[in-house]
Amino acid sequence: MIVKIFDNEQLAGEYAAQIIIGQIKRKPGSVIGFATGSSPLPIYKAMVGACESGDLNCSHITTFNLDEYIGLSHRDPQSFAFFMKHRLFDKLKIDEKQINRLSGAAEDPEEECRAYERKLNESGPIDIQILGIGSNGHIGFNEPDTAFSEHVHIERLTEETVGANRRFFKSEDDVPKLAMTVGIKNIMSSKKIILIACGGAKAWAVDKVINGKEDPMVPGSILRSHPDVEILLDKAAASALDRG
Ligand code: F6R
Repeated sequence: MIVKIFDNEQLAGEYAAQIIIGQIKRKPGSVIGFATGSSPLPIYKAMVGACESGDLNCSHITTFNLDEYIGLSHRDPQSFAFFMKHRLFDKLKIDEKQINRLSGAAEDPEEECRAYERKLNESGPIDIQILGIGSNGHIGFNEPDTAFSEHVHIERLTEETVGANRRFFKSEDDVPKLAMTVGIKNIMSSKKIILIACGGAKAWAVDKVINGKEDPMVPGSILRSHPDVEILLDKAAASALDRG
């Protein structure tokens, strides 16, 4: 596991983007797993900049979104599908056919998870999986106490996660309480994982991932046993590491 501490999130994002750009240059048909949320935005901003300057061509990549709220269609501005389309995929000019996402509006979410698992198996392994981390240590929407052996599945969100994501909704009642997520087993099957965490709210979880023991109560702690993980932090997210 490589841990890098940057002066700010922009520098962390630019570093991660360079790794992804290098991967896509070496293998234009790369499979990239994308996380939603605030953490990866500096990476996406740097990727969009590279695309606009002609340094990045994403026309052959295949993408997999990491997770989705149950009950929100891809047209809902709060859905992760909408977020990824407007924040990244449209700007990188990625064809709709190359984008894989869980449908939050699926009539049968269990079947939707099984179908996504099949797609992952057909297109995978993922070359680079980008992750953020929840302040409770979740990766994807794999909340504390999720088995490390889990595949794509439905997850009930913890109060902490609902509270953290409330900022994107009008009220806490509007935040979906159920989600579909790529499982820890799927994440660990990726060839390379880049986790980006910035801000003091992530310091506890980051310390547990790097210095704690492997513990399902901190889902991100499994990452230590992956052969190729880079953890990119700003100083605030790294602030609890000295004590470890
Ligand atoms: C998002 C996801 C989550 C977030 C995590 C951190 O697709 O799977 O694990 O990465 O909740 O969210 P932010 O980055 O908004 O702090």
